[in-house]
Amino acid sequence: MKYIKLGDLQVSRIGLGAMGMSHGLTGAGSDDAESVRTIHRAVDLGVTLIDTAEIYGPYINEDLVGRALKGRRDQVVLATKFGMIDHGGSGAWNLNSGPANIRTSVEGSLERLGTDHIDLCYQHRVDPNTPIEETAGAVAELIAEGKVRHFGLSEAGPDTIRRAHAVHPVTAVQSEYSLWTRGIEDRVLPVLRELGIGLVPFAPLGHGFLTGTVRSESDFEEGDFRRGNPRFTGENFRRNLALADEVQAIAAEVGATPAQVAIAWLLAQGDDLAPIPGTKRVTRVEENTAADGLRLGAEVLVKLSGLPPAAGDTHTGAGLSMLER
Ligand SMILES: NC(=O)c1ccc[n+]([C@@H]2O[C@H](COP(=O)([O-])OP(=O)(O)OC[C@H]3O[C@@H](n4cnc5c(N)ncnc54)[C@H](OP(=O)(O)O)[C@@H]3O)[C@@H](O)[C@H]2O)c1
Repeated sequence: MKYIKLGDLQVSRIGLGAMGMSHGLTGAGSDDAESVRTIHRAVDLGVTLIDTAEIYGPYINEDLVGRALKGRRDQVVLATKFGMIDHGGSGAWNLNSGPANIRTSVEGSLERLGTDHIDLCYQHRVDPNTPIEETAGAVAELIAEGKVRHFGLSEAGPDTIRRAHAVHPVTAVQSEYSLWTRGIEDRVLPVLRELGIGLVPFAPLGHGFLTGTVRSESDFEEGDFRRGNPRFTGENFRRNLALADEVQAIAAEVGATPAQVAIAWLLAQGDDLAPIPGTKRVTRVEENTAADGLRLGAEVLVKLSGLPPAAGDTHTGAGLSMLER
């Protein structure tokens, strides 16, 4: 495994997203023992960046990650997120990045993760009711106290990134970025590069779609967020299958799997980014991590970059309005 720097934080250039072990995707919570083995295998393979969030479950994904990392805590860069639960009353899925709420979130995350510090603590979505300067100031205080080591943002817009960075250096921005979600390339990525901030592309496999293993809408269980997602439903779903087929054909040409091709394409976009493919299976973490050794030739990269855009938005209306704020 190779390592890169997000700002001044060294991480494996392929991380592991833990969300789907407990939340949001088909099979979540069905086999925690295999999820724990997956985290252990990832660490054995040199993966250091492990990604979770308070809202995943809520809470149970951090519990699981904390259990899995007992005795291995010092081998990883533990990343979690606050701001999607309003602890003051309105609860889960209500944005609150006010200083008191951040402190409550971080104290809870530390407890569940079984650690005395979070290596990389992200605001999960920009809170329109709290100036980003207040949020950055609150995280800076937690950093001064040693409870948090690095500050991150997720799906933030260029202006917010600049304002936050002026209060306290932002180490990384985590945003959706993959072969079929390229929106950050125009406005966000240039700002990250100008300011020396790292990028953590989430959903690098297009929530599984780019692997070619999702073939029918009926593959999704109750509770799988893809059931109501514009890209995964109706005519868009059918049109996007052709895109997954193209990735599969290119993978066959280069002798790799589609998941590995999707990850290797991201790795080719720079040394300042570390995607976090999600899986709850040992075999797949082995497959995904092996993408570190896959070099795609210039022609293949051009072909992949030229694939047609996905049909459908990444989110429905409410989710879309929270992006690039
Ligand atoms: N900041 C944010 O707002 C945000 C939003 C979403 C996600 N995230 C983070 O990003 C991480 C990754 O995103 P994601 O899990 O939504 O999407 P993803 O990594 O693009 O895809 C995960 C899906 O692909 C499947 N998969 C993984 N490897 C595979 C392989 N080699 N072959 C076939 N299928 C494979 C997984 O199933 P199995 O688990 O069954 O293998 C899962 O359903 C999350 O875990 C989370 O930490 C952050």
